[in-house]
Amino acid sequence: MIDIKHLSKSFGELKVLQNVSFRLEEGKVLVLIGPSGTGKSTLLRCINYLEKPDDGMITIGDITVDAKNHKKNDIYKLRRKTAMVFQNYSLFRHKTALQNIMTPLVDVQGVSKSEAEEKAREILKSIGLTEKADEYPAHLSGGQQQRIGIGRALAANPQVLLIDEPTSSLDPELVGEVLNLLYKLASQKVTMIIATHEMEFARHIADHVIFLDEGGIVEEGSPDDIFENPSKPRTKQFLKKFEQKHAMDEE
Ligand SMILES: Nc1ncnc2c1ncn2[C@@H]1O[C@H](COP(=O)(O)OP(=O)(O)OP(=O)(O)O)[C@@H](O)[C@H]1O
Ligand SMILES: [Mg+2]
Repeated sequence: MIDIKHLSKSFGELKVLQNVSFRLEEGKVLVLIGPSGTGKSTLLRCINYLEKPDDGMITIGDITVDAKNHKKNDIYKLRRKTAMVFQNYSLFRHKTALQNIMTPLVDVQGVSKSEAEEKAREILKSIGLTEKADEYPAHLSGGQQQRIGIGRALAANPQVLLIDEPTSSLDPELVGEVLNLLYKLASQKVTMIIATHEMEFARHIADHVIFLDEGGIVEEGSPDDIFENPSKPRTKQFLKKFEQKHAMDEE
């Protein structure tokens, strides 16, 4: 279970997150939507202390970290309960697909090389890239690289995957393979928090949707609540822009 309480974060004078609270049960998918610059990435980065929040409590499973009174060791434990998937994949360029997935197993979890290889090959199979084991990232498509990025995150066996705009660096024809992998993980009850601008995807994968604007939760609910019956004017306005853009793309 993930429990975020009263999370706040500023960069200098800029208040990016203000008193954000939510809970997420194991096996569920939370999707964060909202205008650009509204704090979605910052929120994901605060959850694993890539950014240190100014205030608030983060609980993942049996670890709670209070921003006002945190211990280094607890932050380390909290991080190990999460794994992040980045927009730009951030794979190790000089490592093969297999080695990229093995790295967190060997370096972070201290698994033996042979065991790590076995597990990494299983993951490669589950992401449909068995035949690419020995390729370097430069020889993989963007969609394949992102699937390896997701595979590497899975290798850490996290309690929650934190996924920041997984498809926004991809050519449109490569988006589907990455979204399909995320749908598959959702059906396998992998707990995920996903920031995305892909509204159709958000609607289909989410168990719960949070609409963030100007650093706060404006509205949250089931995909039906948010996409079919938004109650707040700001949510309606935001979604309307997407519908218009969608209609223009279809023309
Ligand atoms: N390290 C930083 N230092 C200073 N300001 C930052 C830093 N990181 C983010 N910001 C600012 O915080 C605000 C929120 O940024 P964030 O990246 O969280 O937004 P976002 O919702 O993820 O946007 P997008 O949809 O474009 O990805 C922005 O105004 C951004 O410029
Ligand atoms: Mg972002």
